[in-house]
Amino acid sequence: MKLLVTGGAGFIGSAFIRLSLGTDPEVEILNLDKLSYAGNLENLEPVRQNPRYAFVHGDICDAALVNSLLEKHRPEAIVHFAAESHVDRSIFSPSPAFETNLRGTFTLLEAARIQRIGRFLHVSTDEVYGSLAPPLEADENFPLNPSSPYSASKAGSDLLARSYFLTYHLPVVVTRASNNYGPYQFPEKLIPLMITNALSDRSLPVYGDGMQLRDWLYVEDHCRGIWAVLKKGRDGEIYNIGGNRSLPNLEVIRMILAATGKPESLIQTVQDRPGHDRRYALSSEKIARETGWQPLVRFEGGLAKTIDWYQRNSGWVHRVRSGEYLKYYAQNYENRQAELRSVTDAGGR
Ligand code: NAD
Ligand code: TYD
Repeated sequence: MKLLVTGGAGFIGSAFIRLSLGTDPEVEILNLDKLSYAGNLENLEPVRQNPRYAFVHGDICDAALVNSLLEKHRPEAIVHFAAESHVDRSIFSPSPAFETNLRGTFTLLEAARIQRIGRFLHVSTDEVYGSLAPPLEADENFPLNPSSPYSASKAGSDLLARSYFLTYHLPVVVTRASNNYGPYQFPEKLIPLMITNALSDRSLPVYGDGMQLRDWLYVEDHCRGIWAVLKKGRDGEIYNIGGNRSLPNLEVIRMILAATGKPESLIQTVQDRPGHDRRYALSSEKIARETGWQPLVRFEGGLAKTIDWYQRNSGWVHRVRSGEYLKYYAQNYENRQAELRSVTDAGGR
């Protein structure tokens, strides 16, 4: 099977490419990625020389490029990962999320429609359902209620993708996965940020009370879920992919501290994220019933593998935590600490 993968130099896209080329000798992959701050060709080092892999440096918003790639390579399917994927960055600066997540997805869908691509898998997220009060769990018919510019842009692109099935009969499938973790994740998201900070004895910034709930999915389980939907999903359908392991952030952070042998005194409460979703929860009953997919990696084992990877890849961490990352870190965390001090000062007067 010949695939066009977008965003394959990022965390999940690169895991998908490594796994696919490593396990299926029939797969050929063309990876289109603009190498944003989150795109990193080091993530693809294990497949760089593979004759069934090729990389194109470019933007999914570039209609001429996307059309010419589809015309020239005629992929059987598009697996669309490319996105601005971080909630905090979308709060500081929403426009990249809207450009890539909405305009970029629109550009790909249009090209796929014109070139009659046989399958378009749009990678969406459980964040489109918004925050759910317990004991609610979102199934695929649950109303969309996104809170952040990131999740609103993902909800928009998710609905746009489905509209191309309903209107133009483009064979679209949408997957909505829960929070991923694993090797090669950019250290702006909770788990890699806490692991890399703990390993270098920096403070671990917890937003608000740290009791927000996320459902954790090991990245390879997500990639297997994408393959299950690519092969067995029905056109026009949506499939949730959850890890079946809901944990409060503080518990995850304590597990990381215990595993790295670092003290809990590193935990630092900082100003909460505006519009912070309290709880994500979803049912993955449909994908299990229709494709037989189940998450295989238990959180404890997945977290241990992930910590081990960051420990063994200090060079990768060092190169990623430089330049742009340091500016982002200062913008996101120094302001939060300043605000926290002013709240504390005001309370003390
Ligand atoms: P990431 O930020 O690690 O990687 C995104 C990749 O997209 C990067 O390689 C980047 O260079 C590329 N990219 C960004 N804008 C582009 C553009 N305009 N043109 C071409 N390439 C572009 O993201 P990730 O965590 O791997 O997420 C991948 C997808 O999975 C996203 O669509 C995200 O919404 C979705 N998702 C992520 C999670 C999670 O927990 N990380 C959970 C559910 C769904
Ligand atoms: P994140 O990894 O950004 O994923 P998302 O918000 O898309 O679910 O954050 C996961 C949870 O961790 C979320 O509740 C916010 C929280 N969090 C912190 O407490 N501190 C941090 O420094 C970060 C990045 C996240």
